Amino acid sequence: MNTPVSGFSKLSKSQKIDWLLSRHLNESETAREVITRYWNQDVPLQELHDGFSENTITNYYLPYGLAPNFLIDGELVTIPMAIEESSVVAAASKAAKFWLNRGGFKTEVLGTLKSGQVHLNFEGLNSEMEAFFAFAKASLLQSLESINASMKKRGGGIQDLRLVDKTKDLKGYYQLHATFETNDAMGANFINTSLEQLAMTLRLKASEFKGFSTDRPEVVMSILSNYVPECRVKVSVSCSLDEIGEVNGVTGREFAEKFVRAVNIAGIEPLRAVTHNKGIMNGIDAVVIATGNDFRAVEAGVHAYAARDGKYRSLTNARIEEHNFVFEAEFPLALGTVGGLTSLHPLSKLAMQILGQPSAEKLMRVTAVAGLAQNFAALHSLVTTGIQAGHMKMHLVNMLEQIGANDEEKAQLKKDFEDKTPSFSGLKESLAQLRIAADQS
Ligand code: MEV
Repeated sequence: MNTPVSGFSKLSKSQKIDWLLSRHLNESETAREVITRYWNQDVPLQELHDGFSENTITNYYLPYGLAPNFLIDGELVTIPMAIEESSVVAAASKAAKFWLNRGGFKTEVLGTLKSGQVHLNFEGLNSEMEAFFAFAKASLLQSLESINASMKKRGGGIQDLRLVDKTKDLKGYYQLHATFETNDAMGANFINTSLEQLAMTLRLKASEFKGFSTDRPEVVMSILSNYVPECRVKVSVSCSLDEIGEVNGVTGREFAEKFVRAVNIAGIEPLRAVTHNKGIMNGIDAVVIATGNDFRAVEAGVHAYAARDGKYRSLTNARIEEHNFVFEAEFPLALGTVGGLTSLHPLSKLAMQILGQPSAEKLMRVTAVAGLAQNFAALHSLVTTGIQAGHMKMHLVNMLEQIGANDEEKAQLKKDFEDKTPSFSGLKESLAQLRIAADQS
Protein backbone atom coordinates (compact mmCIF):
# COMPACT_ATOMS: atom_id res chain seq x y z
CA MET A 1 0.00 0.00 0.00
CA ASN A 2 1.19 3.56 -0.74
CA THR A 3 2.02 5.72 2.25
CA PRO A 4 -0.38 8.62 2.90
CA VAL A 5 0.88 12.01 1.75
CA SER A 6 1.38 14.58 4.48
CA GLY A 7 1.43 18.37 4.13
CA PHE A 8 -0.16 18.12 0.67
CA SER A 9 -1.93 21.48 0.97
CA LYS A 10 1.44 23.18 1.64
CA LEU A 11 2.96 21.98 -1.65
CA SER A 12 3.09 24.42 -4.56
CA LYS A 13 0.84 23.76 -7.55
CA SER A 14 3.65 22.20 -9.58
CA GLN A 15 4.75 20.06 -6.62
CA LYS A 16 1.18 18.81 -6.29
CA ILE A 17 1.17 17.90 -9.97
CA ASP A 18 4.54 16.13 -9.66
CA TRP A 19 3.17 14.13 -6.73
CA LEU A 20 0.01 13.26 -8.68
CA LEU A 21 1.98 12.10 -11.73
CA SER A 22 4.31 9.95 -9.71
CA ARG A 23 1.64 8.51 -7.40
CA HIS A 24 -1.28 7.93 -9.75
CA LEU A 25 -0.41 8.62 -13.36
CA ASN A 26 2.76 6.71 -14.07
CA GLU A 27 4.74 9.93 -14.74
CA SER A 28 2.57 10.56 -17.80
CA GLU A 29 3.65 13.71 -19.63
CA THR A 30 0.36 13.54 -21.56
CA ALA A 31 -1.50 13.90 -18.24
CA ARG A 32 0.72 16.88 -17.32
CA GLU A 33 -0.13 18.41 -20.68
CA VAL A 34 -3.88 17.95 -20.08
CA ILE A 35 -3.59 19.61 -16.68
CA THR A 36 -1.56 22.59 -17.85
CA ARG A 37 -3.54 23.11 -21.09
CA TYR A 38 -6.49 24.20 -18.94
CA TRP A 39 -4.51 26.82 -17.05
CA ASN A 40 -5.51 30.35 -17.86
CA GLN A 41 -2.62 32.36 -19.28
CA ASP A 42 -4.02 35.44 -17.55
CA VAL A 43 -2.14 34.97 -14.26
CA PRO A 44 -4.37 37.12 -11.99
CA LEU A 45 -7.45 35.37 -13.38
CA GLN A 46 -5.88 31.97 -12.73
CA GLU A 47 -4.97 33.05 -9.22
CA LEU A 48 -8.56 34.17 -8.67
CA HIS A 49 -9.81 30.72 -9.64
CA ASP A 50 -7.20 28.94 -7.56
CA GLY A 51 -8.39 30.98 -4.61
CA PHE A 52 -12.01 29.73 -4.86
CA SER A 53 -11.09 26.27 -3.63
CA GLU A 54 -8.20 24.25 -2.21
CA ASN A 55 -5.44 22.03 -3.65
CA THR A 56 -6.28 23.22 -7.16
CA ILE A 57 -4.16 21.95 -10.03
CA THR A 58 -6.19 23.13 -13.02
CA ASN A 59 -9.62 24.40 -14.12
CA TYR A 60 -12.69 22.40 -15.11
CA TYR A 61 -14.70 24.23 -17.75
CA LEU A 62 -18.45 24.04 -18.27
CA PRO A 63 -20.10 25.35 -21.43
CA TYR A 64 -21.80 28.70 -20.80
CA GLY A 65 -24.72 29.28 -23.14
CA LEU A 66 -27.64 31.62 -23.68
CA ALA A 67 -31.35 30.90 -23.92
CA PRO A 68 -32.95 34.04 -25.37
CA ASN A 69 -36.57 35.17 -25.84
CA PHE A 70 -38.02 34.38 -22.43
CA LEU A 71 -41.06 36.58 -21.84
CA ILE A 72 -41.22 36.83 -18.05
CA ASP A 73 -43.93 39.01 -16.49
CA GLY A 74 -43.98 41.05 -19.68
CA GLU A 75 -40.21 41.53 -19.92
CA LEU A 76 -37.95 39.86 -22.47
CA VAL A 77 -35.10 38.05 -20.71
CA THR A 78 -32.03 36.24 -22.03
CA ILE A 79 -31.07 33.49 -19.59
CA PRO A 80 -27.40 32.52 -19.13
CA MET A 81 -26.98 28.79 -18.52
CA ALA A 82 -23.86 26.85 -17.52
CA ILE A 83 -24.36 23.16 -18.27
CA GLU A 84 -22.49 20.32 -19.95
CA GLU A 85 -25.54 18.31 -21.07
CA SER A 86 -26.40 18.72 -24.74
CA SER A 87 -29.98 19.65 -25.66
CA VAL A 88 -30.76 21.49 -22.41
CA VAL A 89 -30.13 25.03 -23.67
CA ALA A 90 -31.78 24.17 -27.00
CA ALA A 91 -34.82 22.82 -25.13
CA ALA A 92 -35.03 25.95 -22.95
CA SER A 93 -34.86 28.16 -26.04
CA LYS A 94 -37.58 26.11 -27.71
CA ALA A 95 -39.87 26.42 -24.69
CA ALA A 96 -39.18 30.18 -24.56
CA LYS A 97 -40.19 30.48 -28.20
CA PHE A 98 -43.34 28.41 -27.70
CA TRP A 99 -44.58 30.62 -24.83
CA LEU A 100 -43.37 33.92 -26.34
CA ASN A 101 -46.61 34.35 -28.31
CA ARG A 102 -48.84 32.62 -25.80
CA GLY A 103 -48.64 35.06 -22.89
CA GLY A 104 -45.18 34.18 -21.61
CA PHE A 105 -44.26 33.11 -18.09
CA LYS A 106 -45.90 34.61 -15.00
CA THR A 107 -44.12 34.56 -11.67
CA GLU A 108 -44.83 35.45 -8.06
CA VAL A 109 -42.39 35.45 -5.15
CA LEU A 110 -44.28 33.82 -2.25
CA GLY A 111 -41.68 34.50 0.44
CA THR A 112 -37.99 35.18 0.98
CA LEU A 113 -37.36 33.87 4.49
CA LYS A 114 -34.66 31.37 5.38
CA SER A 115 -34.00 29.60 8.64
CA GLY A 116 -31.22 28.20 10.77
CA GLN A 117 -31.09 26.25 13.99
CA VAL A 118 -28.96 26.03 17.09
CA HIS A 119 -29.37 22.34 17.93
CA LEU A 120 -29.43 21.68 21.67
CA ASN A 121 -29.38 18.84 24.18
CA PHE A 122 -31.17 19.31 27.45
CA GLU A 123 -32.14 16.48 29.77
CA GLY A 124 -33.98 18.60 32.38
CA LEU A 125 -37.66 19.50 32.60
CA ASN A 126 -39.32 21.06 29.57
CA SER A 127 -40.70 23.85 31.83
CA GLU A 128 -37.09 24.75 32.83
CA MET A 129 -36.08 25.03 29.19
CA GLU A 130 -39.07 27.27 28.46
CA ALA A 131 -38.32 29.46 31.47
CA PHE A 132 -34.71 29.71 30.38
CA PHE A 133 -35.71 30.75 26.84
CA ALA A 134 -38.03 33.46 28.22
CA PHE A 135 -35.12 34.65 30.43
CA ALA A 136 -32.56 34.68 27.60
CA LYS A 137 -34.54 35.68 24.48
CA ALA A 138 -33.99 39.45 24.64
CA SER A 139 -30.24 39.01 25.24
CA LEU A 140 -30.02 36.46 22.44
CA LEU A 141 -31.60 38.91 20.00
CA GLN A 142 -29.57 41.84 21.33
CA SER A 143 -26.33 39.93 20.82
CA LEU A 144 -27.06 39.89 17.06
CA GLU A 145 -27.36 43.64 16.75
CA SER A 146 -23.94 44.41 15.30
CA ILE A 147 -23.95 41.36 12.97
CA ASN A 148 -27.45 42.35 11.79
CA ALA A 149 -26.81 46.08 11.48
CA SER A 150 -26.19 46.36 7.73
CA MET A 151 -28.83 43.74 6.80
CA LYS A 152 -31.32 45.57 9.03
CA LYS A 153 -30.75 48.87 7.21
CA ARG A 154 -32.08 47.16 4.06
CA GLY A 155 -35.05 45.61 5.87
CA GLY A 156 -33.36 42.29 6.62
CA GLY A 157 -31.76 40.47 9.52
CA ILE A 158 -33.29 38.14 12.07
CA GLN A 159 -37.09 38.10 11.92
CA ASP A 160 -38.03 35.56 14.55
CA LEU A 161 -36.49 33.39 17.25
CA ARG A 162 -38.32 30.43 18.76
CA LEU A 163 -37.61 27.54 21.05
CA VAL A 164 -38.71 24.25 19.50
CA ASP A 165 -39.22 21.16 21.63
CA LYS A 166 -38.25 18.07 19.62
CA THR A 167 -37.99 15.72 22.59
CA LYS A 168 -40.84 13.54 21.27
CA ASP A 169 -38.71 12.74 18.20
CA LEU A 170 -35.32 12.53 19.95
CA LYS A 171 -34.73 12.40 23.70
CA GLY A 172 -33.44 15.71 25.07
CA TYR A 173 -33.44 17.47 21.68
CA TYR A 174 -34.42 21.15 21.43
CA GLN A 175 -33.75 23.84 18.83
CA LEU A 176 -33.39 27.55 18.75
CA HIS A 177 -35.13 28.13 15.44
CA ALA A 178 -34.20 31.48 13.87
CA THR A 179 -35.79 32.99 10.78
CA PHE A 180 -33.83 35.43 8.60
CA GLU A 181 -34.37 37.85 5.75
CA THR A 182 -31.11 38.17 3.84
CA ASN A 183 -32.13 40.68 1.13
CA ASP A 184 -30.10 40.17 -2.06
CA ALA A 185 -27.55 37.84 -0.46
CA MET A 186 -27.98 34.07 -0.36
CA GLY A 187 -26.99 34.69 3.23
CA ALA A 188 -25.31 31.44 4.28
CA ASN A 189 -22.37 33.21 5.96
CA PHE A 190 -24.61 35.79 7.58
CA ILE A 191 -26.98 33.14 8.94
CA ASN A 192 -24.19 30.88 10.20
CA THR A 193 -22.38 33.79 11.87
CA SER A 194 -25.65 34.84 13.53
CA LEU A 195 -26.35 31.29 14.73
CA GLU A 196 -22.87 30.86 16.20
CA GLN A 197 -23.34 34.16 18.03
CA LEU A 198 -26.70 32.93 19.36
CA ALA A 199 -25.01 29.74 20.56
CA MET A 200 -22.35 31.77 22.37
CA THR A 201 -24.93 34.00 24.03
CA LEU A 202 -26.99 30.97 24.97
CA ARG A 203 -24.02 29.43 26.80
CA LEU A 204 -23.41 32.69 28.63
CA LYS A 205 -27.05 33.15 29.65
CA ALA A 206 -27.29 29.50 30.71
CA SER A 207 -24.42 30.09 33.14
CA GLU A 208 -26.40 33.02 34.65
CA PHE A 209 -29.77 31.24 34.83
CA LYS A 210 -30.62 29.86 38.27
CA GLY A 211 -33.59 27.68 37.29
CA PHE A 212 -31.88 24.50 36.06
CA SER A 213 -32.31 21.60 38.47
CA THR A 214 -29.86 19.36 36.56
CA ASP A 215 -27.37 20.19 33.76
CA ARG A 216 -27.46 23.26 31.52
CA PRO A 217 -28.44 22.97 27.84
CA GLU A 218 -25.56 21.87 25.63
CA VAL A 219 -25.02 23.26 22.12
CA VAL A 220 -24.59 20.42 19.59
CA MET A 221 -24.19 22.58 16.48
CA SER A 222 -25.35 25.77 14.81
CA ILE A 223 -26.09 25.81 11.09
CA LEU A 224 -28.49 27.21 8.49
CA SER A 225 -31.07 24.95 6.87
CA ASN A 226 -30.97 24.44 3.12
CA TYR A 227 -34.65 23.55 3.29
CA VAL A 228 -36.29 26.86 2.39
CA PRO A 229 -40.04 26.38 1.89
CA GLU A 230 -40.60 29.97 3.05
CA CYS A 231 -38.27 31.27 0.30
CA ARG A 232 -40.43 30.19 -2.59
CA VAL A 233 -41.40 31.35 -6.05
CA LYS A 234 -44.40 30.40 -8.15
CA VAL A 235 -44.18 30.20 -11.94
CA SER A 236 -46.89 29.44 -14.46
CA VAL A 237 -47.82 29.45 -18.10
CA SER A 238 -51.30 29.12 -19.56
CA CYS A 239 -53.07 29.48 -22.86
CA SER A 240 -56.23 28.28 -24.54
CA LEU A 241 -56.22 24.83 -26.12
CA ASP A 242 -56.80 26.51 -29.49
CA GLU A 243 -53.67 28.61 -29.02
CA ILE A 244 -51.58 25.46 -28.54
CA GLY A 245 -52.43 24.54 -32.11
CA GLU A 246 -51.45 21.28 -33.76
CA VAL A 247 -48.47 19.53 -32.17
CA ASN A 248 -46.82 16.75 -34.16
CA GLY A 249 -50.04 15.80 -35.89
CA VAL A 250 -52.30 15.93 -32.80
CA THR A 251 -54.72 18.66 -31.75
CA GLY A 252 -53.91 21.12 -28.97
CA ARG A 253 -56.46 19.38 -26.72
CA GLU A 254 -54.99 15.91 -27.36
CA PHE A 255 -51.50 17.21 -26.72
CA ALA A 256 -52.58 18.97 -23.50
CA GLU A 257 -54.40 15.86 -22.24
CA LYS A 258 -51.34 13.69 -22.79
CA PHE A 259 -49.12 16.33 -21.20
CA VAL A 260 -51.36 16.56 -18.11
CA ARG A 261 -51.38 12.77 -17.88
CA ALA A 262 -47.57 12.72 -17.95
CA VAL A 263 -47.40 15.29 -15.14
CA ASN A 264 -49.99 13.36 -13.11
CA ILE A 265 -47.94 10.17 -13.48
CA ALA A 266 -44.96 12.03 -11.98
CA GLY A 267 -47.35 13.22 -9.25
CA ILE A 268 -47.95 9.71 -7.95
CA GLU A 269 -45.02 7.57 -9.15
CA PRO A 270 -41.65 8.36 -7.53
CA LEU A 271 -39.78 6.32 -10.17
CA ARG A 272 -40.98 8.81 -12.76
CA ALA A 273 -41.03 11.84 -10.44
CA VAL A 274 -37.27 11.67 -9.85
CA THR A 275 -36.49 11.80 -13.58
CA HIS A 276 -39.20 14.41 -14.18
CA ASN A 277 -37.70 16.62 -11.45
CA LYS A 278 -34.16 15.92 -12.68
CA GLY A 279 -35.21 17.48 -15.99
CA ILE A 280 -36.49 20.54 -14.10
CA MET A 281 -33.15 20.78 -12.30
CA ASN A 282 -31.36 20.75 -15.68
CA GLY A 283 -32.78 24.25 -16.12
CA ILE A 284 -32.56 25.43 -12.53
CA ASP A 285 -28.99 24.23 -11.90
CA ALA A 286 -27.74 25.74 -15.14
CA VAL A 287 -28.88 29.22 -14.05
CA VAL A 288 -27.76 28.67 -10.47
CA ILE A 289 -24.26 27.73 -11.67
CA ALA A 290 -24.03 30.52 -14.28
CA THR A 291 -24.88 33.07 -11.58
CA GLY A 292 -22.34 31.70 -9.08
CA ASN A 293 -24.93 30.32 -6.67
CA ASP A 294 -24.76 27.10 -4.66
CA PHE A 295 -26.40 24.36 -6.72
CA ARG A 296 -25.95 21.69 -4.03
CA ALA A 297 -27.96 23.81 -1.60
CA VAL A 298 -30.66 24.39 -4.20
CA GLU A 299 -30.77 20.70 -5.21
CA ALA A 300 -31.08 19.53 -1.59
CA GLY A 301 -33.82 22.05 -0.80
CA VAL A 302 -35.82 21.45 -3.96
CA HIS A 303 -35.83 17.65 -3.64
CA ALA A 304 -36.80 17.86 0.05
CA TYR A 305 -39.69 20.11 -1.01
CA ALA A 306 -40.74 17.53 -3.60
CA ALA A 307 -41.12 15.05 -0.72
CA ARG A 308 -42.79 17.46 1.72
CA ASP A 309 -45.90 15.35 2.26
CA GLY A 310 -43.88 12.19 2.87
CA LYS A 311 -43.92 10.96 -0.73
CA TYR A 312 -41.55 12.14 -3.48
CA ARG A 313 -43.65 13.83 -6.19
CA SER A 314 -43.51 15.99 -9.31
CA LEU A 315 -42.62 19.61 -8.63
CA THR A 316 -44.87 20.75 -11.46
CA ASN A 317 -48.65 20.58 -11.89
CA ALA A 318 -50.68 20.71 -15.06
CA ARG A 319 -54.40 20.82 -15.74
CA ILE A 320 -57.02 21.68 -18.30
CA GLU A 321 -59.45 24.31 -16.97
CA GLU A 322 -62.40 24.57 -19.34
CA HIS A 323 -60.64 25.46 -22.60
CA ASN A 324 -57.33 26.46 -21.05
CA PHE A 325 -54.12 24.59 -20.48
CA VAL A 326 -52.40 25.56 -17.20
CA PHE A 327 -48.90 24.47 -16.24
CA GLU A 328 -47.24 25.66 -13.03
CA ALA A 329 -44.80 25.00 -10.21
CA GLU A 330 -43.54 26.38 -6.93
CA PHE A 331 -39.84 26.09 -6.18
CA PRO A 332 -37.99 26.87 -2.95
CA LEU A 333 -34.91 28.79 -4.12
CA ALA A 334 -32.37 30.47 -1.84
CA LEU A 335 -30.36 32.57 -4.26
CA GLY A 336 -28.14 35.61 -4.02
CA THR A 337 -27.11 38.33 -6.42
CA VAL A 338 -24.51 39.91 -4.15
CA GLY A 339 -21.72 38.39 -2.09
CA GLY A 340 -19.97 35.04 -2.40
CA LEU A 341 -18.98 33.80 -5.83
CA THR A 342 -21.69 35.98 -7.45
CA SER A 343 -19.48 39.02 -7.01
CA LEU A 344 -16.13 37.25 -7.55
CA HIS A 345 -16.38 35.03 -10.60
CA PRO A 346 -16.14 37.17 -13.77
CA LEU A 347 -18.68 34.93 -15.53
CA SER A 348 -21.19 35.19 -12.66
CA LYS A 349 -20.77 38.94 -12.82
CA LEU A 350 -21.41 38.71 -16.56
CA ALA A 351 -24.55 36.65 -15.87
CA MET A 352 -25.78 39.40 -13.55
CA GLN A 353 -25.13 41.97 -16.29
CA ILE A 354 -27.02 39.86 -18.84
CA LEU A 355 -29.94 39.68 -16.41
CA GLY A 356 -29.80 43.45 -15.79
CA GLN A 357 -28.28 43.34 -12.27
CA PRO A 358 -31.26 41.49 -10.79
CA SER A 359 -32.39 41.47 -7.18
CA ALA A 360 -32.41 38.05 -5.51
CA GLU A 361 -36.19 37.99 -6.04
CA LYS A 362 -35.79 38.60 -9.76
CA LEU A 363 -33.19 35.85 -9.96
CA MET A 364 -35.61 33.50 -8.16
CA ARG A 365 -38.22 34.30 -10.83
CA VAL A 366 -35.84 33.75 -13.75
CA THR A 367 -34.46 30.51 -12.31
CA ALA A 368 -37.96 29.15 -11.69
CA VAL A 369 -38.87 29.97 -15.29
CA ALA A 370 -35.83 28.01 -16.52
CA GLY A 371 -37.04 25.03 -14.45
CA LEU A 372 -40.62 25.13 -15.72
CA ALA A 373 -39.46 25.71 -19.30
CA GLN A 374 -37.15 22.71 -19.13
CA ASN A 375 -39.94 20.47 -17.87
CA PHE A 376 -42.27 21.79 -20.58
CA ALA A 377 -39.71 21.03 -23.28
CA ALA A 378 -38.93 17.55 -21.91
CA LEU A 379 -42.60 16.56 -21.66
CA HIS A 380 -43.36 18.11 -25.05
CA SER A 381 -40.82 15.72 -26.57
CA LEU A 382 -41.65 12.75 -24.37
CA VAL A 383 -45.38 12.73 -25.19
CA THR A 384 -44.80 13.31 -28.92
CA THR A 385 -41.59 12.24 -30.67
CA GLY A 386 -39.69 10.87 -27.65
CA ILE A 387 -36.46 12.53 -26.58
CA GLN A 388 -33.91 10.36 -28.31
CA ALA A 389 -34.31 11.72 -31.84
CA GLY A 390 -33.49 15.31 -30.84
CA HIS A 391 -31.07 14.28 -28.14
CA MET A 392 -28.97 12.02 -30.33
CA LYS A 393 -28.75 14.66 -33.05
CA MET A 394 -27.26 17.03 -30.52
CA HIS A 395 -24.92 14.23 -29.51
CA LEU A 396 -23.82 13.71 -33.08
CA VAL A 397 -21.30 16.55 -32.96
CA ASN A 398 -19.69 15.09 -29.80
CA MET A 399 -19.71 11.60 -31.24
CA LEU A 400 -18.06 12.71 -34.49
CA GLU A 401 -15.35 14.40 -32.45
CA GLN A 402 -14.83 11.25 -30.40
CA ILE A 403 -14.46 8.93 -33.40
CA GLY A 404 -11.81 11.26 -34.82
CA ALA A 405 -13.60 12.49 -37.95
CA ASN A 406 -11.97 15.47 -39.69
CA ASP A 407 -13.98 18.55 -40.72
CA GLU A 408 -14.80 17.23 -44.18
CA GLU A 409 -15.82 13.84 -42.84
CA LYS A 410 -17.93 15.50 -40.12
CA ALA A 411 -19.84 17.53 -42.71
CA GLN A 412 -20.51 14.41 -44.81
CA LEU A 413 -21.55 12.25 -41.86
CA LYS A 414 -23.87 14.97 -40.53
CA LYS A 415 -25.59 14.93 -43.91
CA ASP A 416 -25.73 11.12 -44.02
CA PHE A 417 -27.25 10.95 -40.52
CA GLU A 418 -29.73 13.80 -40.97
CA ASP A 419 -32.74 11.46 -40.89
CA LYS A 420 -31.22 8.68 -38.80
CA THR A 421 -30.58 8.20 -35.10
CA PRO A 422 -26.79 8.06 -34.87
CA SER A 423 -25.00 5.35 -32.90
CA PHE A 424 -21.26 5.00 -32.31
CA SER A 425 -21.09 1.74 -34.26
CA GLY A 426 -23.10 3.17 -37.19
CA LEU A 427 -20.94 6.28 -37.32
CA LYS A 428 -17.69 4.32 -37.13
CA GLU A 429 -18.79 2.06 -39.96
CA SER A 430 -19.80 5.02 -42.13
CA LEU A 431 -16.52 6.78 -41.37
CA ALA A 432 -14.56 3.66 -42.35
CA GLN A 433 -16.52 3.48 -45.61
CA LEU A 434 -15.88 7.15 -46.31
CA ARG A 435 -12.16 6.63 -45.83
CA ILE A 436 -12.09 3.54 -48.05
CA ALA A 437 -13.93 5.51 -50.74
CA ALA A 438 -11.48 8.41 -50.34
CA ASP A 439 -8.47 6.03 -50.65
CA GLN A 440 -9.90 4.48 -53.80
CA SER A 441 -10.62 7.78 -55.54
C1 MEV B 1 -32.70 14.38 -19.23
O1 MEV B 1 -31.58 15.08 -18.74
C2 MEV B 1 -33.96 14.90 -18.61
C3 MEV B 1 -35.23 14.13 -18.95
O2 MEV B 1 -35.06 12.74 -18.67
C4 MEV B 1 -36.34 14.71 -18.13
C5 MEV B 1 -37.64 13.94 -18.18
O3 MEV B 1 -37.63 12.72 -18.43
O4 MEV B 1 -38.67 14.59 -17.92
C6 MEV B 1 -35.55 14.23 -20.43
